[in-house]
Amino acid sequence: MTITRREALSLIGKGTLLLPAGMLSMGAVQLSPQIKPFELSFRIPPFLQPVRSDNTTDYYEITMQRARVEILPGLGTEIWGYNGITPGPIIKQPRNRQSLVRFINKLPESTVIHLHGMASLPQYDGYAEDLIPPEYYKNYIYPNNRAATLWYHDHALHETSRHVYMGLAGMYIVEDDLELSLPLPKGNYDVPLIVQDKSFASDGSLVFDDRRRLGLYGDVMLVNGVPWPRMEVANRKYRFRVLNAGTSRTCNLRLSTGDDLIVIASDAGLLSAPVRTKTLRVGMAERYEFIIDFSKYPIGAQIVLENPIFSSNIDTDSRTQQVMRFDVLRQESDDSQIPNTIRPVQPISVSQAVRTRTFRFGRNFQDWVINGRTWDKNRVDANPGVGDIEIWNLVNAGGGWVHPVHIHLVDLQLLDRNGRAPLAYERGWKDVFFLGESQTVRVIAKFGPHAGKYMMHCHNLVHEDHDMMTQFEVGSGGPDPITTAKALPLPAPPL
Ligand code: C2O
Ligand code: CU
Ligand code: CU
Repeated sequence: MTITRREALSLIGKGTLLLPAGMLSMGAVQLSPQIKPFELSFRIPPFLQPVRSDNTTDYYEITMQRARVEILPGLGTEIWGYNGITPGPIIKQPRNRQSLVRFINKLPESTVIHLHGMASLPQYDGYAEDLIPPEYYKNYIYPNNRAATLWYHDHALHETSRHVYMGLAGMYIVEDDLELSLPLPKGNYDVPLIVQDKSFASDGSLVFDDRRRLGLYGDVMLVNGVPWPRMEVANRKYRFRVLNAGTSRTCNLRLSTGDDLIVIASDAGLLSAPVRTKTLRVGMAERYEFIIDFSKYPIGAQIVLENPIFSSNIDTDSRTQQVMRFDVLRQESDDSQIPNTIRPVQPISVSQAVRTRTFRFGRNFQDWVINGRTWDKNRVDANPGVGDIEIWNLVNAGGGWVHPVHIHLVDLQLLDRNGRAPLAYERGWKDVFFLGESQTVRVIAKFGPHAGKYMMHCHNLVHEDHDMMTQFEVGSGGPDPITTAKALPLPAPPL
């Protein structure tokens, strides 16, 4: 049975707790074990220390392995984790200091590592068919040439959604001196928020149900791997780096107090000026950074980070409308500030664009397609020259589905959406563009610095896997992404 989005939504209805059994071909909806929100403590994934460092490079090592962890109290969950944890450890690198990260595959399936947001050479970019087989390893080299909140995650062809869902995702932060010289909250007051939604069976195991390749929507909201955590904060400003690392869910964040989130950065770095907003839409793979100023609340205040209904999500439970809670518990002085000018974002000039291309994101029977086609590693759908400025029209013609479109290698700017100005917080450097229902988004980028083949795809990972992904090739003669730096069998020599 083919079911359109509209039909699916009308079957479900907003706020309805149960789907009609079998209508979306998944049998009766099984809700995850119920736990009380805001009882588990907030935590931050550990920061990974380099194995060693030399004049130019920091060397890291991460093993992908199965582990049994406690996510829901009292239940064990098998995950696939970087170093056996999910999210994986955070890597923080100074800008322009190279890193080499060795990924060792101790999992039963082949994996691929993509550092999302990094301008890596093709052989280190996590090309979907550049696999690390089980009992193999691969060293990835990253230039760290721009300060931003990035993330590393699996990218194995047709398996990405399940692999990331099993736990293969982690944050990667590049910092530079300019950013550190700003009076923004730092150190313990600079806090990652990796948001994911998952579903669990009554025994605690993860349930992967992509609803016959429509999308996966969990009913448990996790932040940094903890369901609905409670974070104790001081009455001062905090900087939060939010990453939507969910499979298919669009987040739509707001504070229960109705106060503003003060956005200071988008995917690929700081905005030119802070943007105040009541709600912040964070599509899959998007990153935004915002300040919350807790100084206006009395000690004892509890502020919930909410996620009100977003109509393109498929929800089976209203619990996804809450994400985490901040409890203001301590008095502290605060010398941080939110500067009026953060870091100028130079607009890429439209008049310098040498061509325009159009990509249509749509559906063709059971497949998700771009310009009518599925992935083919032997086909290149665009070939900008190195240094060329191009405008790309990203089109979601049909209603009913959103597609957060991610373009590898380059940082881009959003020109307009359906001819209108983008949201204020989207006016910075970005690599994912939220393509809402019946929307056309125009983006601009300067292609380079590397030549070679890079992917573009929808970051609804279920769409990406089946098969809304294509590639472009910058210039010609770039290194082949598959054969240039192949994974090698274990054991690995010391780093
Ligand atoms: Cu975040 Cu091609 O991926
Ligand atoms: Cu990417
Ligand atoms: Cu999509």
